[in-house]
Amino acid sequence: MTRRSPHQPLVVANWKMQLGVEESHERITELKQQLKTVRGRYQAVVCPSFVSLDGMKKLLRGSDLLLGAQDVFWDDRGAYTGEVSPMNLREVGVEYVIIGHSERRQLLGETDEMVSRKVVSALGHGLTPILCVGETAHERNEGRHEVVVRRQVMSALRTAPPPTGHNKLYIAYEPIWAIGTGEAASAEQACMMHQVIQQTLIDLYSFPLVEQSYRTLYGGSVDEKNVSQYVRVDAFHGALVGTASLKPETFASLITNIIKTF
Ligand code: PGA
Repeated sequence: MTRRSPHQPLVVANWKMQLGVEESHERITELKQQLKTVRGRYQAVVCPSFVSLDGMKKLLRGSDLLLGAQDVFWDDRGAYTGEVSPMNLREVGVEYVIIGHSERRQLLGETDEMVSRKVVSALGHGLTPILCVGETAHERNEGRHEVVVRRQVMSALRTAPPPTGHNKLYIAYEPIWAIGTGEAASAEQACMMHQVIQQTLIDLYSFPLVEQSYRTLYGGSVDEKNVSQYVRVDAFHGALVGTASLKPETFASLITNIIKTF
C-alpha cells in the first residue's frame, strides 16, 4: 500500500455555482489574508465558476493558492456550444481541473466515456486532473460500492497516458451520499475505498508509477473539524471541499488543521 508521501497536502475548494464574480474575487482576497501565516506549508486550489476565472490569477499572486476549473471539454476548439476549451483554461492561468464530479454525472448525463476523454484532454494540455469517483447510497447498500468505484477509475484512466515528469493525477473519492449532506464517510469507510482505488491503479500501472504520480483526496461533507481524520489514516493526501470552502475563515482553519495533521 502506498504510504503517504512527505509532500504537502492538497486542498481543493469547489465553489460550484455558489458565488458571483465579485464575491469570488472578494473571498480570494480575504482567504489570502487568512493564510498569510502558513505560507509555504500547503497547496490549495480554488475552483470558482468559469466566468470568475479571468482576473483571478492576478489576485492569487503572493499566495500559495492555485487556480482550478470545475470542468473542461475534450476538444481544443470547434462547434461545441457552451463548452470550455482546455486551451482557454490555460490562457487564464488555470492549472487544475475537476473532472467527472458526481453532480455532472448525475444532473448532466456525463458518462464514463466522456470523463475519460476529458482526462486525456486535460493531461495533454498540462492541466492536472482531479478525477472524481464515488458510489450512491443505493450502490453502497447493495454492497456494490467497490465495484462501482473500481469501474469508474478503470474507465476514466484506460486510455489516459500517465502524467509526465513531476505532474500528478488526483483521484477524489467522493461518496455521493456524503456530498452536501453533512454526513461524511467515516475514516474507516474512506480508508477502505482509498485501498480500492490504490489497488485499481496498481492493476493499471506499475507500483512505482502509482507512488510517483497518483494521489487520492477525500471529498464529501469535509469541514475544519473532521478533515484531520482522513489525512490521519495514512491514506489521503488531502481533501476536495465544497460547502466548507465558501467561507474564507472556515476554509483557512481547515487548511491549518490539515497542516497540523500531515
Ligand atoms: P461538500 O461538497 O463538501 O459540500 O460535501 C464536496 C464536493 O461536491 O466536491
